[in-house]
Amino acid sequence: MSTTNEAAATRARAVIPGGVNSPVRAFGSVGGAPLSIASASGATITDVTGREYVDLVASWGPALLGHAHPDVVVAVQEAAARGLSFGASTPGETELAETVIERLTVRGVQLVERLRLVSTGTEATMTAIRLARAATGRDLIIKFAGHYNGHSDGLLAEAGSGLATFALPGSAGVPAAVAAQTLVLPYNDLDAVRDAFAAHPDRIAAVITEAAGANAGVLAPLPGFNGALALVAKEHGALLILDEVLTGFRVSAAGWWGLEASGVTGSTAWLPDLVTFGKVIGGGMPLAALGGPAAIMDLLAPVGPVYQAGTLSGNPLAVAAGLATLRLATPDVYARVDAAAEVVATALHEALDAAGVAHVIPRAGSLFSVAFRSDAVHDYADARDQEAWRYPPFFHAMREAGVSLPPSVFEAWFLTAAHDAPALDRILAALPTAASAAASATPPAD
Ligand SMILES: Cc1ncc(COP(=O)(O)O)c(C=O)c1O
Repeated sequence: MSTTNEAAATRARAVIPGGVNSPVRAFGSVGGAPLSIASASGATITDVTGREYVDLVASWGPALLGHAHPDVVVAVQEAAARGLSFGASTPGETELAETVIERLTVRGVQLVERLRLVSTGTEATMTAIRLARAATGRDLIIKFAGHYNGHSDGLLAEAGSGLATFALPGSAGVPAAVAAQTLVLPYNDLDAVRDAFAAHPDRIAAVITEAAGANAGVLAPLPGFNGALALVAKEHGALLILDEVLTGFRVSAAGWWGLEASGVTGSTAWLPDLVTFGKVIGGGMPLAALGGPAAIMDLLAPVGPVYQAGTLSGNPLAVAAGLATLRLATPDVYARVDAAAEVVATALHEALDAAGVAHVIPRAGSLFSVAFRSDAVHDYADARDQEAWRYPPFFHAMREAGVSLPPSVFEAWFLTAAHDAPALDRILAALPTAASAAASATPPAD
């Protein structure tokens, strides 16, 4: 191949803002030439120079099975041969909804009765909020600092993901009147939630929370936090929107909710009202969804008065990829992803320990990240209070050794079922040198 990553980025920057179609891809916080990808297969990704890396980004989550799983590719090819898009319903959409409903039924509790397919996680959360406002007749929403719930206007304040990476407090272009409808609270702080409800009686439509925070590095909910949020919201006539766009079908067959629900019996008052999905549900294609009880979901047009639509919603290729992925996502797949995550997280800890680098490895199921600080991370303030400058040299040493990490310390690492022993060995072999690079990093001069 005749190009380089630098050359590809330079050419892209001339015609695409920042050369990227999603900001974190620009490598802004780690520096160096962003990867320009030619192909990916299984646990590896290959750049335009032909260099192959063991990949720990997994398309930011969707590639649960690894890249380009042959059965998923065939399912998409077969769907493509039948037509790319019809602008009409297909049996596959119903099958996908039935599959999700079945998976989200844990210990007899059916969390989702109706599912609406959209194309991105942003649309799913945006629609969930519109529904919650319609259902409650209220305007305010609560979100948590450091959570990323998509890029709709009301959800960008103190958001995670690219906004954490670039240390942005929010986005320009959001009307002040819209921003004023969002109350941003510290994560894992139930008192702050109770205080907000007390300060705004009968005005809060919904609390939206990542099922387990994973966009400011991993920020796991404290045990019982999500359930308590649901109770507090219900007590005040508001809804809880559980954002499983990142965790859904990734950390278990029923997402983060599946992990929490498997330990609980009795009252259902701790259940979320609406759930949003993305990433794995589309198997690498643009597909996302929101679901919940019929009483709320049937407020959506054409049954109810809440409008939501999409030319490519339920696209047949995306549905085929999602269905094939979910069919293949057996308990064995989750066991393999969990085991691979354990191996890498343990080795990461040992390598940083051996190099004398203060760190913690926040975890939520198979998701984990690294934070260069000594104390546990519970909220966004904790996540930002770290020696983040140790990450770029660590990242580049891993890249040099043929391992592609998320290009920001504020992102989770994603394992897949395709990370077999040779792939894990390559990661483990790279870690000691990278840990030394983190150890000898120096803070930037102010
Ligand atoms: C928890 C969460 N919600 C929503 C979104 C938005 O999804 P999308 O990028 O498909 O719009 C993301 C994306 O990373 C996410 O992690």
